[in-house]
Amino acid sequence: MSSKTKTLEVTTLVSILLLAACSGPAGDGRSPATNEAVERESEMSRDPHSYARPDEVAVSHLDLDLTVDFERHVLRGRASLALDNKRGATELHLDTRQLDVERVTLDDAAAAVDFVLGEEDPILGRELVVPIDAATRVVHVDYATRPEAAALQWLAPAQTAGRHPFLFTQSQAILARTWVPCQDTPAVRMTYDATVRVPPALMAVMSAENPTARNDDGVYRFRMPQPIPSYLLALAVGDLAFAELGPRTGVYAEPPLIERAAYEFAETEDMMTAVEKLYGPYRWGRYDLLVLPPSFPFGGMENPRLTFATPTIIAGDRSLTALVAHELAHSWSGNLVTNATWNDFWLNEGFTVYLEQRIMEAVKGRDYAEMLASLSLQDLEQAIDELEPRDTHLYLDLAGRDPDEGMTDVPYNKGYFFLRMIEETVGRERFDPFLRGWFEKNAFHSRTTADFVAYLRRELVAGDAGLEKELMIDAWVYGPGLPPNVPRVHSARFDRVDGELARFRDGAPAAELATEGWTTHEWLRFLRGLPDELPAPRMAELDEAFGFTASGNSEILHAWLHHVIRNRYEPAYPTLEHFLKTVGRRKFLKPLYERLAETEEGKAWAREIYAQARPGYHAVSSSTIDEILDWQG
Ligand code: BES
Ligand code: ZN
Repeated sequence: MSSKTKTLEVTTLVSILLLAACSGPAGDGRSPATNEAVERESEMSRDPHSYARPDEVAVSHLDLDLTVDFERHVLRGRASLALDNKRGATELHLDTRQLDVERVTLDDAAAAVDFVLGEEDPILGRELVVPIDAATRVVHVDYATRPEAAALQWLAPAQTAGRHPFLFTQSQAILARTWVPCQDTPAVRMTYDATVRVPPALMAVMSAENPTARNDDGVYRFRMPQPIPSYLLALAVGDLAFAELGPRTGVYAEPPLIERAAYEFAETEDMMTAVEKLYGPYRWGRYDLLVLPPSFPFGGMENPRLTFATPTIIAGDRSLTALVAHELAHSWSGNLVTNATWNDFWLNEGFTVYLEQRIMEAVKGRDYAEMLASLSLQDLEQAIDELEPRDTHLYLDLAGRDPDEGMTDVPYNKGYFFLRMIEETVGRERFDPFLRGWFEKNAFHSRTTADFVAYLRRELVAGDAGLEKELMIDAWVYGPGLPPNVPRVHSARFDRVDGELARFRDGAPAAELATEGWTTHEWLRFLRGLPDELPAPRMAELDEAFGFTASGNSEILHAWLHHVIRNRYEPAYPTLEHFLKTVGRRKFLKPLYERLAETEEGKAWAREIYAQARPGYHAVSSSTIDEILDWQG
């Protein structure tokens, strides 16, 4: 048995013991002392997705010095890791994957030390073991990345809006180790400084204090004074312009996009005001957005001080900006209080969807927010239908699996509805300060599910047996599916859409439906509610009346393309093909390729498209699509 398998088993055992410890008799007479013991124990439980041993020695600061080589698709340089050696450890265990480690030195010594690189695990990569002693302050690792490093995407000019190449990173969940040797676990936080050398025509930005203009020598210096976990390390290099949005907010984008981006995100400052009012001051200085080229595999990534975002949310009418609210909200839920392991992912995402909803309600009104909530509930119910029951618990067991597998609607939307259920049960007067207290008391720390459950029982339930029973905490957190006390969502605007859907199903021509004033989310409700089978004339009628194939709104187009595939609506095939070849956002690609793969013919066509599109996708997306299409990468 490899030592890695052993580690995973031990960790699983620890999780099981913890789970048993936490799911004792509900509302119970568990003493505060026991709660604290559980908390302490859980904070020390080993992350199954990291080789690091931060309870022995932790990295507290990172100094990066990197040169960006666009010709060879390589980052080369040095990572200097400052240590907090708590127990006089004689070894530092780091995570690496797809890295060429060239030399390791300690403090000011010139002599290299003998490091050991462990065997390659397909998910975790290779452990790097560096001999140190109790007095070692800094470990310097000289290294280079590989062109195929999973976090990095190197874009040719043709994949951008302009005439220059582009590079961006995506470190979450465990990809930071493919471009920086580090303790790649969300349980460890470090501050960082970086020097990044790029071709002088390009500008570099990071999840740190950023420049707003290009400089002529191509050398950029960054400082991140707040401690962050490794998955929030981020870098982008390209031809970038900057536009101010408000006193503390701005947007970076390629020059041809900057104006449209600035218009789209103009409400960012209002969102900030709304969220600060609820959960306390923004702790990170500035909040800027970076609009990436369309191959960015996610909608958004909450890199501190600088959210990375897909250009597919630039709809022209500010209708997809809930994503900005979401990534901004992570400045509290995730970046300030961080999930201790990826099993606790719902502490990041479920809390963030909850905050996102509160922000959208404050900025756009309750009606609007309820449309979002209703769509989320639909997504969640479908996901629960399709997932293995064990993957529908809030507290996940991802040991031995890629943490990516935990990125389903469950942590996001079941997490959201759990918090909303508590809110509705106790009222906002009690719930808002409770949640604010969670962020304030745990700021700049990593926390486990058990920590939150203990806090909830201590601060909110506080021995009220009736309340304990009403909340069904254990069923939500450690059980499958949706407990019976799931909140009801009601949207009058969607009721009207459903009325029109019924008329359409009964044969009313598309052009006669009362759709005036519908916003993006009403259209999404409509598209989701259409019958699965639509004959060609009905498809054509819908398209003619509402112009779906020509929609510039990526969410609407994506929802429509499902019907296009299902009903073999050929007039939209060129649009489908173009979409798959230009957009790299996994949330869109995965369901469309899955839909295509449902038939032999569809799958054959999908493979043809994929053969051309794949080189333009980020590894995060291509690894998912490889599986759907049985692609031998
Ligand atoms: N942090 C996530 C993205 C992520 C999660 C990347 C796990 C890698 C591993 C980000 O905040 C997110 O949730 N993005 C969503 C958008 C959001 C509005 C639901 C996305 O990209 O679709
Ligand atoms: Zn998120």
